[in-house]
Amino acid sequence: MTDKLIIFDTTLRDGEQSPGASMNREEKVRIARALERLKVDVIEAGFPAASQGDFEAVQAVARAIKDSTVCGLARALDRDIDRAGEALKDAARSRIHTFIATSPIHMQRKLNMPPDQVVEFAVKAVKRARQFTDDVEFSPEDAGRSEEDFLCRILEAVIDAGATTLNIPDTVGYAMPEQFGRLIARLRERIPNSDKAIFSVHCHNDLGLAVANSLAAVANGARQVECTINGLGERAGNAALEEVVMAVRTRKDFFPCHSEIDTREIVACSKLVSSITGFPVQPNKAIVGANAFAHESGIHQDGVLKSRETYEIMRAEDVGWSANRMVLGKHSGRNAFRTRMQELGVEFASEEELNSVFFRFKQLADKKHDIFDEDLQALISEASLEAEDERVKLVALKVCSETGEVPNALVTIKFDSDEKTGSATGGGAVDASLKAIESLVHTRAKLTLYSVNNITSGTDAQGEVTVRLETEGRIVNGQGADTDIVIASAKAYINAVNRLLAPLNRTHPQVSEV
Ligand code: KIV
Ligand code: ZN
Repeated sequence: MTDKLIIFDTTLRDGEQSPGASMNREEKVRIARALERLKVDVIEAGFPAASQGDFEAVQAVARAIKDSTVCGLARALDRDIDRAGEALKDAARSRIHTFIATSPIHMQRKLNMPPDQVVEFAVKAVKRARQFTDDVEFSPEDAGRSEEDFLCRILEAVIDAGATTLNIPDTVGYAMPEQFGRLIARLRERIPNSDKAIFSVHCHNDLGLAVANSLAAVANGARQVECTINGLGERAGNAALEEVVMAVRTRKDFFPCHSEIDTREIVACSKLVSSITGFPVQPNKAIVGANAFAHESGIHQDGVLKSRETYEIMRAEDVGWSANRMVLGKHSGRNAFRTRMQELGVEFASEEELNSVFFRFKQLADKKHDIFDEDLQALISEASLEAEDERVKLVALKVCSETGEVPNALVTIKFDSDEKTGSATGGGAVDASLKAIESLVHTRAKLTLYSVNNITSGTDAQGEVTVRLETEGRIVNGQGADTDIVIASAKAYINAVNRLLAPLNRTHPQVSEV
C-alpha cells in the first residue's frame, strides 16, 4: 500500500479569485457537492472575512458537506481566524488555513514587518486557530521566493504551535520543478519536527509549470496538493486537479502515493465549474478538453482501433467522458426529475421551487428531445439566478435577421419596477440585441469577452453564452443558456449587468492589511 496523497481543492477560494469568476452561495454549494462526489479530501470553501456574503457561503458549504473536510482561509489576524472558526462551526470536519507572507519582497513592501514579527504573527494565528479545530494549515505566502533558512525557522515554530499541515505556495508561479522539488526535500530534512506535519504545495501557473512543480514536490515527499478544477485561479490559475490526479494515477510506477479521487466524476465536475464560472475549457486541455481523447488523424485512429494502448495512456471512460447519459425527456415525470436532481446534489427548498424548475424542464423538453445532466445544471443555474435579487430581467426579445438587411432587435426588460423597451441595429442579431439592452441599462461597460459553447451536441443543443463586462476596474462574467443563442446571449448580458449593479464590498485575502 502506498501513501495517500491528499487532494485539497481550492476552486471555491483561489479559483474564485480569477477576475469574473465570483460565485454566489448557491453556486458554491452546488460545486462543493460535486467536489464531494469526486471524493476530494479537503474543500477550501472561501475566505469568510472577505464579506458577509463570503462568510455565509462558507457556512452553507460547511453545513451541506459531510464527507470532505471544509476549510476556510484566514490571514494571520485574530478577526479573520474568528470569522473562519465561526463560519465552519457546523462542519462535520473543519480546517482553518492561515497564512502570512515570508519572502523578503512581501515582508518589506506588502507587510512592512521585520521577519521576527512575521514569525510572531504566524505562531499566534496558528494557536488561535487551534482553539476552533485540531486541523490547522499554515502557508508561508510566496514561499517560492522566500529564503530557505527563514522558511525552516517559521515552519518549525508553527508546527510547535499546533499546525498539522504546512503548505508551501509558489504564489507567483516562479519556481522550476527541479528546484521546487528540492526545496520540499530540504525543508523536510532540515526542520527538526517536520515529521509532525504533512507537507503540501500550492502552485500557480504563471510560467505554465503549476502541475509540473506540484508533481516534483510529490516526488520529494509532499503528501497534499492544492489544486483547482480546470486549473482555475488567480492570474494564470492554479495546478489543475484533473491533471495532478491523473498523472499520479497513470504513473503509479513513478509516484509512491495514490489519491482516493473518484476519477469518473472529473468531467461532470469540470463542466459544472466551467458553466457556473463562465470560464470555458479549451478543446485541447488535458483530461477535460473536448479533444483530449479524440483521435483525429488517420494514423492514430488506426492505431487505436487495433489496440487502444497504442496511443491512449488513459481511458476516456475513467475520467467520465462516456458518462454523458441521456437522463430525461419529454415524458419524464416529476419524480424522475426530482430523483435525478437529487443525484446531482440539488435540493429544492420547497415544492414551489421544484414545480418552477420542473416547468422550465418541460418547456426545454418541448424544444429539445434528449435532456442531459448538463442541461439540468443549466436550468438550475438559470432558476437560481432569477431567484436572486436581480434588478434587471428580460421580458421579451424580437430580432430580425435577413440576408441583405441590417439586423435589428427590439427588447423589453424590467429594470427594478419599470418596464422599458428599446431597439438597436447591429452587425448581427446578437450585436443588435446586446446594443438594445445596453441602450436601456447604460452600464457603459466594455464587452471584453463573448463566447458560445454548446452544452451538449446536436443542432437542438442549448448554447451557453458567456459575456465579460469591464468597467472602472471591475470585471464580471455573465452566463445564459437557451436553445436559441440570441436569447442565450441576451440572458448572459443581463446576468452580467445584474452582477455589475450588485454592490461590491469584499476584501481580497492577499491584498493584506497585516
Ligand atoms: O497563492 C497563494 O500563496 C495563496 C495563499 C493564500 C495560500 O493562495
Ligand atoms: Zn494561490
